[in-house]
Amino acid sequence: MDKLIIKGGKRLKGEVEISGAKNAALPVIASTLLVQGEHEITRVPDLRDIKTMGRLLENMGAEFHYEPHKAVIATNKIRNLEAPYELVKEMRASVLVLGPMLARFGRAKVSLPGGCAIGARPINLHLMGLERMGAKIELESGYVIASAKRLKGAVIYFDTVTVTGTENLMMAASLAKGVTVLENAAREPEVIDLANALTAMGAKINGAGESIIEIEGVDELRPLTHKVIPDRIETGTFMAIAGITAGDVTIRGCMPEHIKAFLIKLKAAGLKVEETADGVRAVGPARPNAVDIETAPYPGFPTDMQAQFMALMSKAQGTSIITETIFENRFMHVAELRRMGAGISFKGSTATVRGVRKLKGANVMATDLRASASLVVAALGAEGETTIHRVYHLDRGYEKIEEKLTMLGVDVRREKR
Ligand code: EPZ
Repeated sequence: MDKLIIKGGKRLKGEVEISGAKNAALPVIASTLLVQGEHEITRVPDLRDIKTMGRLLENMGAEFHYEPHKAVIATNKIRNLEAPYELVKEMRASVLVLGPMLARFGRAKVSLPGGCAIGARPINLHLMGLERMGAKIELESGYVIASAKRLKGAVIYFDTVTVTGTENLMMAASLAKGVTVLENAAREPEVIDLANALTAMGAKINGAGESIIEIEGVDELRPLTHKVIPDRIETGTFMAIAGITAGDVTIRGCMPEHIKAFLIKLKAAGLKVEETADGVRAVGPARPNAVDIETAPYPGFPTDMQAQFMALMSKAQGTSIITETIFENRFMHVAELRRMGAGISFKGSTATVRGVRKLKGANVMATDLRASASLVVAALGAEGETTIHRVYHLDRGYEKIEEKLTMLGVDVRREKR
C-alpha cells in the first residue's frame, strides 16, 4: 500500500487547478443507464472510484472508455442487471445504479453496501422510496432484488436528508408513470448537477436544489452530453491548506458559491478569501482563530469538510468545538491528529480542539477519504516529516494530489509498496 511522505512547515504559495466533482460524476455516470445510446461526460476526475463505476457498468454490458477527463459510455447492450458484491464493497456509490436499472429494465439485483469506517450508512430510504413507487423489494443473501413492471409516481418523504437517496429516486422517477414529489430532499450542488444532466436527457424536473423536488416521468430519454461541476470538497481542502500554512493559494476552476457556509467559517478563522476571474485566492493568517462548527446537510457546513477543518483548528489560537451531525463515527482522524501533537478529545458527536502552536510530523494512518485529507492538511502545517500510510483512501477523492501539492512548493513524495 502506497505511503505519502510530506515535509511540513513551509508557507505555501502558488496555483492549483480543481478537478471535476467525484460526487457529481458518479451519479451522472449511473444515469446513462436510463437510456440506450452513446454518452459523453467531461470534467470527470481521474480517480479510483470513477474506474470502479466504469467496471460496474462494463459488468452490466455497457462500454466504458475513460481518458482524462472524458468518459464515453455506450449503454446499448445492457444485459446483466446486477451490481455484484465484489464491486459494491469497493464503492458504496454503486448503489446509484439501482434506480436507473429498475426504471429502465424493471429489474435490478444490487449487493447491499456494507458499513464503512464512518458509519453504518444504510440504504433503507432508497428502498422505501422505490417501494412507494410500486417496486417489489426483497433482500436475499446480502442482495437487494428489486422488480417493477413500471414505476409509478409517488410522494416520498425522507426522514433523513440523503444525497444518494435523493439522486437514486430522482433518476428512477424520470422514467416513472406520473409525477413523483421528493420531500426533505438533499439540496447539494451535486444533486443539482445530476438534475441538469437528467434534464438534458429530456427529464422533467422542478425544484432541484430545494427541499421539494418534483419529477414528471417521461416515456423515454435521450443520450447525454454533460460537463461535471468542479469539486467543492477538493476546493475547500486546498483552502484549509492555505489556512494552516499561512500560505497564499490561488485555486482555479472552482465554484466558491458551492461552499458558502465553509467560507464563512474560514473567514472567521482569519483567512482572506477573494474571488478571482476563475476561482478564488485564499491567504492564511499567521495563526488561525478558533471557530466552532456543526455539520449539516447542504447548505450547512459540509460533513466532508469536518476533518480538514479540524486539522486547521488544531493549530488555532484558542479552543473550538466541532459537532458532527451526519455520520455516527466520523472522528477517526482524531487519534491520528493527536499523534502529531494536536490537543483534541471527543465524546459522542462533539470534539473539543484546544489549539497548539506547533504540530510535529509523525507516522499516521489514513482511515477514510476525508480523514486522510485532514492528515495532509495537518502534515503541511507540522514541523518535520509526516508519513501517511494507506494513502489509497486519499486517491479515491483527490486526483494527482502530490502533483498539485508540488505546484504549491510542497516537498512531497509517494513511496509505492
Ligand atoms: C453522500 O453519501 C456522499 N457520497 C458522501 O461523501 C457525503 O459524506 C454524504 O453524501 C453526506 O453529504 C456521494 O455522494 C457518493 P447520505 P451518502 O445518504 O449519499 C443516513 C465523500 O467523502 N441514511 O446523505 O451515502 C446515513 O447513514 C463521501 O466523498 C440513512 O439512514 O450519504 C447518514 O447518516 C463520504 N438511510 C445520513 O443519512 C438511507 O437510506 C446522510 O447520508 C440513506 C442515508
